[in-house]
Amino acid sequence: MTEGKPFSQACANNKQVILEKLAAVFSAPGTVLEIGTGTGQHAIHFASFLPHITWQPSDHPSNYQLCEPWLAEARLPNINKPLALDVSISDWQLPPVTGAFSANTAHIMSWPEVKAMFKGVAANLHQGEAFCLYGPFNYSGKFTSGSNQQFDASLRQRNPAMGIRDMADLKKLSSDNGLILESDFEMPANNRLLVWRKR
Ligand SMILES: C[S@@+](CC[C@H](N)C(=O)[O-])C[C@H]1O[C@@H](n2cnc3c(N)ncnc32)[C@H](O)[C@@H]1O
Repeated sequence: MTEGKPFSQACANNKQVILEKLAAVFSAPGTVLEIGTGTGQHAIHFASFLPHITWQPSDHPSNYQLCEPWLAEARLPNINKPLALDVSISDWQLPPVTGAFSANTAHIMSWPEVKAMFKGVAANLHQGEAFCLYGPFNYSGKFTSGSNQQFDASLRQRNPAMGIRDMADLKKLSSDNGLILESDFEMPANNRLLVWRKR
């Protein structure tokens, strides 16, 4: 059923393990903003299995329509139309949200964009609401695997502004924006699921 639609093998592989974490974090009814939705495979999987959540996909204006084929096929009542959202703009002008999620974006965005993402998320969440960030991260300047080190090198070759981010930098950034790291889950394939909560 993937014919004609953009397809990410990584999303197919990781969607269930991510869902298991999100189900616990986003257990109450609400609206979750997804930043950098990409193909939309995550959006439809999470919305299917979290029917109490309204899923709000978004992506950079150059890419936000990429998810439309998956969304159109799934026809789920709890997924909103994707928003064109570049995290770099100063006022996101979002409808109210009660949580946020983003996968595999922090190493694709430049560091100023990552900063803008945390600032924008924090500005749109209320006290106690969560931001879940999935992807590969470094600890104390060290890669958690050789494959992540190779991945980082390939990213930086593609664009020197890209690269795997260090947890120390993210913790400083989040703290500056009133977001506290609540959980750091180890995930398959040397990835992590970080849960930040608005102070
Ligand atoms: C590697 S893809 C990840 C897509 C999807 N979340 C996944 O896990 O497969 C990175 C995503 O970040 C988005 N992105 C990059 N820069 C962005 C920005 N400044 N604002 C919003 N999204 C951005 C890209 O358009 C792309 O969809």
